[in-house]
Amino acid sequence: MAEKPWGGRFAAQTDRRVEQFTESISFDHRLFEHDVVGSIAHARMLARVGLLTEAECEQIVHVLSEIRQEIAEGRFPFSIEKEDIHMHIESALTARLGDLGRKLHTARSRNDQVATDVKLWTRDAIDRLDGLLADLQRAFVAFADRHRDLILPGYTHLQRAQPVLAPHYALAFVEKFARDRDRLADCRRRLNVLPLGAAALAGTTLPIDRESVARELGFDSVAANSLDVSSDRDFLAETLFCLTLVAEHLSGWAEEWILWSTQEFGFLLLPDSVCTGSSIMPQKKNPDVLELIRGRTARVVGALQTVLVLIKGLPLAYNRDLQEDKLPLFDAVDTVSSCLELAAVVVSGAELNRDRISSRLDEGFLDATTLMEYLILKGVPQRTGHEVVGRLVSLCESRRCRLADLPLDDLRAACPAIDEDVSGSLGVENAVKAFRSYGSTAPDQVSEQLTAWKAKLGQG
Ligand code: ARG
Repeated sequence: MAEKPWGGRFAAQTDRRVEQFTESISFDHRLFEHDVVGSIAHARMLARVGLLTEAECEQIVHVLSEIRQEIAEGRFPFSIEKEDIHMHIESALTARLGDLGRKLHTARSRNDQVATDVKLWTRDAIDRLDGLLADLQRAFVAFADRHRDLILPGYTHLQRAQPVLAPHYALAFVEKFARDRDRLADCRRRLNVLPLGAAALAGTTLPIDRESVARELGFDSVAANSLDVSSDRDFLAETLFCLTLVAEHLSGWAEEWILWSTQEFGFLLLPDSVCTGSSIMPQKKNPDVLELIRGRTARVVGALQTVLVLIKGLPLAYNRDLQEDKLPLFDAVDTVSSCLELAAVVVSGAELNRDRISSRLDEGFLDATTLMEYLILKGVPQRTGHEVVGRLVSLCESRRCRLADLPLDDLRAACPAIDEDVSGSLGVENAVKAFRSYGSTAPDQVSEQLTAWKAKLGQG
């Protein structure tokens, strides 16, 4: 019964249902590129330490490259009897090289092999995601740039709060995605430790050189505990947490823009190219892309939960449960990648409805806090100023007017500290100009931030 690479001690065939139940080739074929790269580095190391000859190593490297090419071109047959991508590649090698192919797995187990492959795959995925996040940041910066002078109502509790410049609003998302990139970079740094050479769980009696493998595969260091290696999936939980935050950021943004594109808000004009229609209501133009970005966040949060529950309570070291780590990883990376790509398309095509926004800026007393701060500068205690402006807002509500419409006499009756210069703090435009703190929506602050982001993102 030696058909399976592990078949030596088995007397009976594997039940077909067991093969179907235990296979992972249907999804881990996606690791083929990294499996070949890892095997080539392993073979070169075996040659360096004398466990293969140079000529043997060259033959192995050549055939592995051939196999990689065939898989990439869809010319390589997969079958569930061979379980996973690692055994497919190794058995093809053996079919072509005979006994020499049977030497590749020297000083290696699928446990350290699969950990290495998944790390290499995840590292590449992180690099691609970083590029997509940067593209989306650039789309928000361009959006900020083309709405430079527009004032928006800023909200808390979804109630009008204080005025903000449109570029200030757009750059808020650029900051969030900057933190996401930073988190992924940090996760990548912790991930970048070589598992290979831990073998099954205890290391090997053979004279391997793990440092050289790490160098060849671009790992910063070598994992120091073999038992830890074959059980460790921290890097996946971390990657998925980083992706979950990206998804959460996208979801909050999508929700806001769905609201903004309603008739009721009317803030946002989405291009036809990113909307879809209704099969029954001829007038409909729906923001389905934004809704699906919001909706797909669920899958990413789900992927994180899956991995957290998967690794909870596993005894050391490798357990077959860990095979289940790949489906949530692949799904989360695919989902976040496509959402990021589409988000950039939406942001690039979206325009704020200037007339609609500007015509209603006088509603909601967006300048009330500025007026209170004017009073503070006149020496009025903050709590008193707050109360005075609160009473003035209430007066305006009864007269159906703006704070800026109140005659100076009424203002002075509410608080004698008020002078004629108060007009410089009233009205939304004046209120925006009055800001000055670092990081605020003050026009010069926002323009500095915009310039800085353009430089950082190479949008000069
Ligand atoms: N396909 C398996 C996985 O993804 C490979 C490791 C199998 N190791 C083992 N000892 N059965 O986890």
